[in-house]
Amino acid sequence: MAKHIGILTSGGDCPGLNPAIRGIGKTALSQHNMQIIGFRDGFRGLMENRFIRLDNSQLSGILTLGGTILGTSRDKPHKMSMGGNLVDMTDVIVENYEKHHLDVLVCLGGGGTQKNAFRLHQKGLNVITLPKTIDNDVPYTDVTFGFDTALHVAVEAIDRLHSTAHSHHRIIVVEIMGHKAGWLALGAGVAGGADVILIPEISYDIKKVAESILTRSRQGKRFSIVAVAEGAMSKTYAKKLKDIEKKLDHEKNKEKRYELKKRFSELESQHAGHTLLLSEELEELTGLESRVTILGHLQRGGTPSATDRLLATRLGTACVDYITKGKYGILVAARGEQTEPVPLEKVVNKIKLVPPDHPWVISARKVGTCMGD
Ligand code: F6P
Repeated sequence: MAKHIGILTSGGDCPGLNPAIRGIGKTALSQHNMQIIGFRDGFRGLMENRFIRLDNSQLSGILTLGGTILGTSRDKPHKMSMGGNLVDMTDVIVENYEKHHLDVLVCLGGGGTQKNAFRLHQKGLNVITLPKTIDNDVPYTDVTFGFDTALHVAVEAIDRLHSTAHSHHRIIVVEIMGHKAGWLALGAGVAGGADVILIPEISYDIKKVAESILTRSRQGKRFSIVAVAEGAMSKTYAKKLKDIEKKLDHEKNKEKRYELKKRFSELESQHAGHTLLLSEELEELTGLESRVTILGHLQRGGTPSATDRLLATRLGTACVDYITKGKYGILVAARGEQTEPVPLEKVVNKIKLVPPDHPWVISARKVGTCMGD
């Protein structure tokens, strides 16, 4: 009997989601005569039973579209916001899965989605995930779709910022997304020729950053581009967080643990404006004028790059092969030219960070880029 597939997109959107939906949908329809429905707005749509039947007309003309035709949300099945309270709606989701006689639920998402999908898998649902995010931080896959497009946006921004920084003899600090990982800032910084690259994986010493900018000035280079990841941290700040983490590792007392966690999140929220602070500090330490550009959601918008379309199509079509073989509870990972089914229990609660000795870091250092340490 033909299989019934449910698809949803969850977490932050990114270019490549529509090519993935198309890749899954077209293969399932044309090669296997399967039935497909798409749930709107991530796990919330599945919980509220809001869906559309996906046929050839919905799947045509979406390859080049950014975002997701299904809509997305950051809602979690076990912590759904309902009238101001967080409620576990997993059972309703399981009911809706059964109501539609689904054979499998395909979840397209990043780290959070992998966790949520795995929880549903533990409740008995057949799930498969695909790795999407501009952050490129999903483990066990070479790369995630969305990353390449965002990289192009960030590199183009750095290219454009060069000419204005040069004309005004300024420092320009450009903040690049990536959550807790530095892939996007590092990749864009290297490809865009940033003079300083600051990533979360290598905490920085502001004095060293200022010194590298002053050295450039002395060499007659009177401007500098600083590519800073949104999650980058100064050494002092990183130490404060680490100290709390260490205490939490040993603290057994409930109240004291609560206080430590509160302090940790206070510190984390103070970090929000760190790029503005960094720019001010650099002005003070160098005597040069500095400006900030925050690229923000620009990096997530627009049409997917050819590389992302190719990757998402490849993973989407492979996903249907795994469905036909009944291989569930897996992430469809990109491995070289092939794909690999990785058990979700291996993927969850892990994040792929930039190793400090990654070839991109080594190359950046060799061409004279300051990494802040
Ligand atoms: O995970 C993708 C991402 O764009 C991160 O780089 C960023 O930290 C986050 O999402 C922003 O989330 P939101 O769109 O919910 O503000």
